[in-house]
Amino acid sequence: MAENFLIILLQLLVIMCSSHGRELGGGTKNNMNHHMMNNHHDIDPSLMVFLTMKDLKVGQRMPIYFPKRDPSTSPKLWPKQEADSLPFSLEKLPQLLQLFGFARDSAQAKAMEDTLRECESKPIKGEVKFCATSLDSMLDFAQSILGKDSGFRVLSTSHKTKSSVAFQNYTMLEDIKEMEARKMVACHTMPYPYGVFYCHSQTTQNKVYSVPLEGDNGDKVEAIVVCHLDTSEWASSHPSFQVLDVKPGTSSVCHFFPADNLIFIPKVLQSHAGFTSM
Ligand SMILES: *[C@@H]1O[C@H](CO)[C@@H](O)[C@H](O)[C@H]1NC(C)=O
Repeated sequence: MAENFLIILLQLLVIMCSSHGRELGGGTKNNMNHHMMNNHHDIDPSLMVFLTMKDLKVGQRMPIYFPKRDPSTSPKLWPKQEADSLPFSLEKLPQLLQLFGFARDSAQAKAMEDTLRECESKPIKGEVKFCATSLDSMLDFAQSILGKDSGFRVLSTSHKTKSSVAFQNYTMLEDIKEMEARKMVACHTMPYPYGVFYCHSQTTQNKVYSVPLEGDNGDKVEAIVVCHLDTSEWASSHPSFQVLDVKPGTSSVCHFFPADNLIFIPKVLQSHAGFTSM
């Protein structure tokens, strides 16, 4: 009963989320407007999502980029049967482009290629990854990592106020909470003609926090932050190292999750284990 309820909630959530999915080929055009306000002149504001564990404290103020995506133009998750009826591989890209009617040199073609390439890239050591093209396959993957017997919770960043400001300074408020998460699966939306989530899980130590934020304009956000304690296997080209000015393996790397990304963690049996973070 409770599980069914969770699944229904989750479906609603995912449908909601997919309707906020990244626009296909959505560039960083809009970010340029904000570029002048950026402290780090050479860094794209959309990368201003990284922090280290020592930045995670009440009163900390920092510029953060929270994308606000236009629901009307974003791709939806397809039912499993429909999604499974199409190939999902770089090799079949020409066929897919034809099917969706995208020119080879279009922005959409580039986005699809990047997504397929990312999905086919080898996981790093200690990582399991999977690109989900339907809700069912995402849930199956999450369940396979978290364990068949454990229920799970879904966490995502939620915006408590509506505003169009995507990049500004936020201050961390009281009540930063660490969520109990011995295992976790993170799923990120990918640019594609239909909903695709890049899901992955690392066996190295991670921490998940819920962090209340207040923007300079009064915006309230209940943000989900994931911290990776061991970054020694990460490519040195990972943008977080540039933003934080650290080297792989020398520092924890945390990042704020945009609202349309999902974190699955095992359900903890306690009286108040609810769906509050949804
Ligand atoms: C954040 O605040 C700093 C210091 O007050 C300021 O220099 C910077 O321009 C602000 N950034 C944004 C994105 O508003």
